[in-house]
Amino acid sequence: MSEPINRTISVAPMLDWTDKHCRYFLRQISQHALLYTEMVTTGAIIFGKGDYLAYNQEEHPVALQLGGSDPTDMTRCAAKAQQYGYDEVNINVGCPSDRVQNGRFGACLMAEPETVAACVTSMQAEVDIPVTVKSRIGIDDMDEYHDLTRFIEVVAASGCDTFVVHARKAWLKGLSPKQNRDVPPLMYDRVYQLKQQFPDLHISLNGGVKTLDDVEHHLNHLDGVMIGREVYSNPYILAEVDQRFYNGQASCKTRAEVVMAMLPYVEQQISQGARPWSVARHMLGLFQGQPGGRIWRRYLSQNGTKANAGLELLSDALEVLLEAQHKAKQFQNEVIG
Ligand SMILES: Cc1cc2nc3c(=O)[nH]c(=O)nc-3n(C[C@H](O)[C@H](O)[C@H](O)COP(=O)(O)O)c2cc1C
Repeated sequence: MSEPINRTISVAPMLDWTDKHCRYFLRQISQHALLYTEMVTTGAIIFGKGDYLAYNQEEHPVALQLGGSDPTDMTRCAAKAQQYGYDEVNINVGCPSDRVQNGRFGACLMAEPETVAACVTSMQAEVDIPVTVKSRIGIDDMDEYHDLTRFIEVVAASGCDTFVVHARKAWLKGLSPKQNRDVPPLMYDRVYQLKQQFPDLHISLNGGVKTLDDVEHHLNHLDGVMIGREVYSNPYILAEVDQRFYNGQASCKTRAEVVMAMLPYVEQQISQGARPWSVARHMLGLFQGQPGGRIWRRYLSQNGTKANAGLELLSDALEVLLEAQHKAKQFQNEVIG
């Protein structure tokens, strides 16, 4: 019998969304969920002027997602990721954008498992952190189950034992990246079947997961679940992750405590030249579905983008929200008695 595989709940890599500020914020809500960076291309890391790998130590566990397909470049970047202290390096085999296709990486690599395998072999020879792959279930006309298993077989043979599979195919021509996240149907059974066929691989499912009950359901079949858009629009969904899936503490921060916990961070970021909006923009959905949630969102978007927005942005927004909640309660008491 092989060892039981650890379960993983993760937040998906999302370009322009899961930057270091977003991840710092999400970490206030769950201590254990694995957080992925946005995809960073090997070109940006090797030739770019900025520091594309900078992150906050508080973000751990955090995985760097790389976009690239040249084994030498990928290995150089994996070595850098390890130096920076990332917990994992993940290869993007799921993005269908034209720009990414032109660079010969992302989802089009599903047609080139040998290239991905060559990257994995070379990267693993250089680093000790896990090298993992995020893929689709297929692309274009290469969308039969046996196409998927061939991809997994070849890449797993190179030493990769952890896969995240977005349970829908991608059309490389004709659909935008956004459409490619909604139009092709979700086929969870394909991913379940994969786990049955490769029980020793750690396989996470991604795509369309909206609740922790969904997560629990998928975990009956799989080792992990990755959530993307739902976490971004409703981040407090992560609040019960530690308790439900990691035997963590039953009590996590309230939404208001999360806001308070962000204040020193915003102050520190402002002192380094960042605008409060670059942090606050990720927090718009914190009170989603709560009384006053829309007021919070509106206050932040109207005031956060002003040139003179300062440290008080978040605490003022919280005050406005709490006041609205208080008034709503008072009104309710008066009307209902
Ligand atoms: C704004 C946005 C940016 C994304 N950027 C990336 C990316 O950089 N790398 C990647 O592998 N997937 C990216 N994705 C896809 C997500 O990681 C995920 O696979 C997809 O959203 C499906 O999961 P969900 O239904 O839980 O959102 C992005 C998705 C969104 C919405």
